[in-house]
Amino acid sequence: MSSILDGRPALQYEVEQVAEVAGYLWQKGWAERNGGNITVNVTACVDDEIRQMPAIAPAVDMGTVLPHLKGCYFFCKGTNKRMRDLARRPMENGSVIRITDDCAHYEIIADNPVKPTSELPSHLAMHNYLLGKGQNCKAALHTHPIELVAMSHTDKFLQKDVLTNLLWSMIPETKAFCPRGLGIVPYQLPGSQRLAEATLEQLDDYDVTLWEKHGVCAVAPDIMEAFDQVDVLNKSAQIYINARAMGFEPDGMSAEQMQEMTKAFNLPK
Ligand code: 13P
Ligand code: ZN
Repeated sequence: MSSILDGRPALQYEVEQVAEVAGYLWQKGWAERNGGNITVNVTACVDDEIRQMPAIAPAVDMGTVLPHLKGCYFFCKGTNKRMRDLARRPMENGSVIRITDDCAHYEIIADNPVKPTSELPSHLAMHNYLLGKGQNCKAALHTHPIELVAMSHTDKFLQKDVLTNLLWSMIPETKAFCPRGLGIVPYQLPGSQRLAEATLEQLDDYDVTLWEKHGVCAVAPDIMEAFDQVDVLNKSAQIYINARAMGFEPDGMSAEQMQEMTKAFNLPK
């Protein structure tokens, strides 16, 4: 990473993790054009020198007040930037922003004045909410996984926990690695405050939410774990769809098998 933030190993590590995941998203076919976005709270990696850095573009009004984000720093994918480019040149296709002391604006501090993702309202609302609850979830990921989005095109799978239980039953590890399942967010305009609010409503019960006819959104301690959760759920969706393509409705694991898994792996009910 050649960047004015070079020489800060912790920050460099975070940005390299983002770049690695961006490459996976492209390889998976989940990131057409500029599809999907990533934000990571990098406040813990920021030293005094970075704190002194001036804004390189005028502060932007977030249209809301996010009190838990005061003075926080985020690495954000740029709006309209491609995941495949973020993978190779993260600091040209994203930027580091700082939330101002009034908690109502952000300013870009490095490297280039790349405007953050249009889904920033959802990302920052989630970071604010989770910080307020004292949860260590530094990464937020939004992506367009083909099979999960396809499954969101029917009412049947949009009923509470129908998809969660179906996906858990396709392969035993799904519940082990995504124990809180998949929340459902009815269709809302991409990038809107309404989408941010509807996503927040799911966060008490789920780490991953399905945005109807659009994509998924995941929060996790780091970006690799956020990716893993979506990957595990989408793998189950692929297994279901493959079984259907072979002409049968898959049996899924039985209730007894699910109970045994839940007990053995000490998972929530
Ligand atoms: P951005 O390019 O603004 O990140 O938007 C991509 C996207 O997936 C919107 O939902
Ligand atoms: Zn999207």
